[in-house]
Parts: sequence; C-alpha cells; structure tokens
Amino acid sequence: MSRALALLALAGGLFSGAPVGAQVASGQVTSGSAFLSPDLARRQADPTRNPGWFWVEQGEELFSRKPAGGAACLSCHADPASTLRGAATRYPQVDRGGALLNLEGRIEQCRVERQTQPAFGHESQELLALTAYLASLSRGLPMNVAVDGPARPFYDAGKAFFERRQGQLNLSCRQCHDGLVGQKLRGDTISHGAGTGYPAYRLEWNGVGSLHRRLRACSLGVRATQFDHGGPEYLALELYLAGRAKGLPVETPAIRR
Ligand code: HEC
Ligand code: HEC
Repeated sequence: MSRALALLALAGGLFSGAPVGAQVASGQVTSGSAFLSPDLARRQADPTRNPGWFWVEQGEELFSRKPAGGAACLSCHADPASTLRGAATRYPQVDRGGALLNLEGRIEQCRVERQTQPAFGHESQELLALTAYLASLSRGLPMNVAVDGPARPFYDAGKAFFERRQGQLNLSCRQCHDGLVGQKLRGDTISHGAGTGYPAYRLEWNGVGSLHRRLRACSLGVRATQFDHGGPEYLALELYLAGRAKGLPVETPAIRR
C-alpha cells in the first residue's frame, strides 16, 4: 500500500464522522522522546553516541569565532552558559519591532545587525549549529514562552492552523497530535508534536534539522501546502506548539527516526 493510501486508510478508519480529538490542556503534553525505542533513547541520552552533539560543538566553536570585519558572538555574550541559559525557553517571542522571531530568527538578527555579516540562511550548517548550541544551554529547563500581550495574535493564528483540516488527506495537526497520540504510523509512534528537542538529529535526514523542516514533512505527509522555513505560518505554529509544551524541558539535541 502506498504511503498516501496508508494514511487515507488510517484517516478513513478513525475519522469518518468522528469528532476532532479532544483538546489537550497544557501540562498534559508529553515529549516525543517518550516514544523512542529503548535503543534510541539510550543513544539520545549518551553524548558520545548522539550525533546531535557534533552540531552543538560546531555551534560553540562558531560562537567564539571572530568574523572578518565583525565581532564574535562571544565578545558581546560573555559566559553564554550562564547568560544565555534559559533564552531558548522563551522563543518564539515578539521583538521590539513587533515581529515574531524564533531562536533561529533571533540569531540571524544579531548576525546581521550586530555582527554586521550576511545572514547564514535557513537550514545552513552554521545556523543549525548555533541554534542547537544555544538551545542545548537550556537543556532541562521548562519551556516558558509568552502567549499573551503582543504574542496573542500569533498564538491564535498558530492555534487556528493547528486545528484546520488540510491537504488531500483533509487532516488537521490536532487530529494526529492529540487524537492519535500513541498510535503507530509507518513505524513512528505519533507524539504530541511538542518540538522541544529541535534542532534534532533525525535518522531519516542523516543529520540535524530544524523544527520547520519537521513541520514541512508533516505538511507533505497530508499532501498539504509546505510553507517556507522561517515563514509566518510555521512561526505562528511554532509559538502555539511551544505554548502547548509549556513546562516541558528543552531536550536539544534530540534524536528522532
Ligand atoms: C555587538 C554585540 C553583539 C554581537 C556581536 C552579537 N550579539 Fe546577540 N545580542 C546583543 C544584544 C545587545 C542583545 C540584547 C538586546 C536586544 O534585544 O537586541 C542580543 C541578544 C541576543 C539573543 C537573545 C537573548 C535572549 O535572552 O533573548 C541571542 C540568542 C543572541 N543575541 C545570539 C547571538 C549570536 C548567536 C551571535 C553571533 C552570531 C550574537 N548574538 C552576536 C549583542 C550582540
Ligand atoms: C497523519 C498524521 C499527522 C499529521 C496530520 C501531522 N503530523 Fe506531525 N507527525 C506525525 C508523525 C507520525 C510524526 C513522527 C512521530 C512523532 O514524533 O509524533 C510527527 C512529528 C511531528 C513533530 C515532531 C515531534 C518530535 O518530538 O520530534 C512535530 C513538531 C509535528 N509533527 C507537528 C505537526 C504539525 C504542527 C502538524 C500540522 C501542520 C502536523 N504535525 C501534522 C504525524 C502527523
């Protein structure tokens, strides 16, 4: 059976006429790590066997490197292990200019405005490495994004996206990531879609990728529009996911299948 047909069978079997899965209150959301096989869970927990740490180390190295004609990140952000610890738990957030920025966007902002260098670009090794490094400094700390005030409209847009049926398979994010949590889909166990381990090392990618890359894979899975990395749709969605995951610890770099 093709992948699309398998999905359709799943959707047809479970959703025909059925109501959308019950809303999950924040605090009940669990990490995707809960569904790793015992072997992958051990690999994830062991820095010598989790390839994601290679990106973290590259990021740490980049952080202290001085580019020609600009300052090193480290020269403005001394002692990042304490001064930037916890920063990742507060992203995405609305900046002073009113734009919603995720951690990648914040790094690019400093890169361009303060380091006066060209942006790294989405999914570049440099941006993934720096993002993985900064997120790793918040490992174990609870996610704590603001979802009120200026963040509210973005959060609401993300929530609406999460609930909208989409694609040829006509499935919403919520139908899978609330309604089918714990069920198998092509060898994966569907989680709450918390996103607290990203950038993550994914076996299918044979490397580290961003949360937006994972979101594009989910959009493709239901044959829906794939939005741009860093685009407003996935940024709003990321804020909603982070709000749902409030209290869950940051786990970057996670391992995923
Ligand atoms: C010339 C000084 C300077 C350089 C160089 C610089 N930054 Fe920054 N950065 C700042 C200042 C100042 C702020 C906070 C003020 C603001 O909101 O703009 C900041 C904020 C940040 C934040 C947000 C922290 C938080 O708690 O929300 C991150 C993340 C960050 N920088 C990462 C980087 C990275 C990565 C680099 C290198 C690519 C870098 N910065 C280079 C000055 C700098
Ligand atoms: C057909 C079911 C299905 C739909 C619909 C779907 N996903 Fe997924 N998603 C999966 C599966 C399967 C995985 C991999 C296993 C897991 O972690 O849940 C996944 C993984 C994820 C992850 C990574 C979780 C982790 O810990 O690695 C996130 C985040 C996510 N999805 C968000 C979304 C969002 C947002 C939408 C709506 C745009 C969506 N998904 C739509 C099935 C689905």
